[in-house]
Amino acid sequence: VANGLGRTPQMGWNSWNHFGCGINEALVRSTADALVATGLARAGYTYVNLDDCWADYQRTKEGYLVANPKTFPSGIKALADYVHSKGLKLGLYSSAGTRTCSDKMPGSLGHEDTDAKTFASWGVDYLKYDNCYKDGTPETVRFQRMSRALMNSGRPIFYSLCEWGYMEVAKWGGAYGNSWRTTGDIVDTWSGMLANIDRNDAYARYARPGGWNDPDMLEVGNGRMTYNEYVVHFSLWAIAKAPLIIGCDVTSVFRETLGILSNAEVIAINQDRMGVQGSKVRTYGNGLEVWAGQLSGHRKAVLLLNRGASRPASIAAAWRDVGIRRRVTVEARDVWKHETLPGKFTGSLTAVVEPHSCKLFVLTPFPR
Ligand code: DGJ
Repeated sequence: VANGLGRTPQMGWNSWNHFGCGINEALVRSTADALVATGLARAGYTYVNLDDCWADYQRTKEGYLVANPKTFPSGIKALADYVHSKGLKLGLYSSAGTRTCSDKMPGSLGHEDTDAKTFASWGVDYLKYDNCYKDGTPETVRFQRMSRALMNSGRPIFYSLCEWGYMEVAKWGGAYGNSWRTTGDIVDTWSGMLANIDRNDAYARYARPGGWNDPDMLEVGNGRMTYNEYVVHFSLWAIAKAPLIIGCDVTSVFRETLGILSNAEVIAINQDRMGVQGSKVRTYGNGLEVWAGQLSGHRKAVLLLNRGASRPASIAAAWRDVGIRRRVTVEARDVWKHETLPGKFTGSLTAVVEPHSCKLFVLTPFPR
């Protein structure tokens, strides 16, 4: 969509995965503070996004959405001002239906122009638009209406479609929005996370600067996966150019989690200016996989993934799978170890990968 936003995948935080409907303005303010204090803001996490349940149960008599007076007594404008004062941006949420999924607040169906203008007047920078309580109108129509309304709102507002992959969304999502969901809701488990990224992979060719496939928000730090599994989660989202929307409580985040979320070399893969979504290029037996994607400067991102639960395995990334010409020699940088491997590689790169773990490399042609 021609709003100039999302030239690289969006980065930020969203309340849903950790807090669900349990949100309030103090939490959002301390989240903004924590993003700055932890260095996550500096690492690129800019959007502070409220999900479902921020608004009052009904519209006002005049037909406007208003913040829930119990949980957001100061209102959204004041919250946006606060978030902006920290150098961050504020995101809101609504649904292309009569109610949102929680049924705690109205949706925007039939009120698209009013709501888009309201959001703009509050200084909102991002809208996540859900798909509950729909009428019989197809997704293409309902999501386009809000797209137009946002374009006419007088403020650049990032538009994140949350239609759960209905109606081959990747084929039309880019005409209306800056990202679109390719899957149902992520589950904070190894198999749940992998199911989302596998499904998302089918649409790789539709991603590009301005419009991204969205396999849903990050679960890193929410506690139901191991450290190595979260490293895999973050690596896959990075190489697949997925939105990096933190879904944990950043006001009490563990150092380990911060180390994952703020790895600048991994983030740089996600934010590479070419905007090419990496994908699965090779499947061996026993859950061993190679994912690869083009980066600027003739570099490649290569991920060796061991989905198996039992033993370490040696995994080879062959140049023909990764898309490097046969005679090309590269240097390999391990972006989790922050170490350039000794020696140079021609034809393939092989490494041993622990169970439920990955290795992530950037390959640079040598000599340059
Ligand atoms: C469904 C969406 O897919 C979730 O990300 C979240 O926004 C919930 N709805 C909120 O009700």
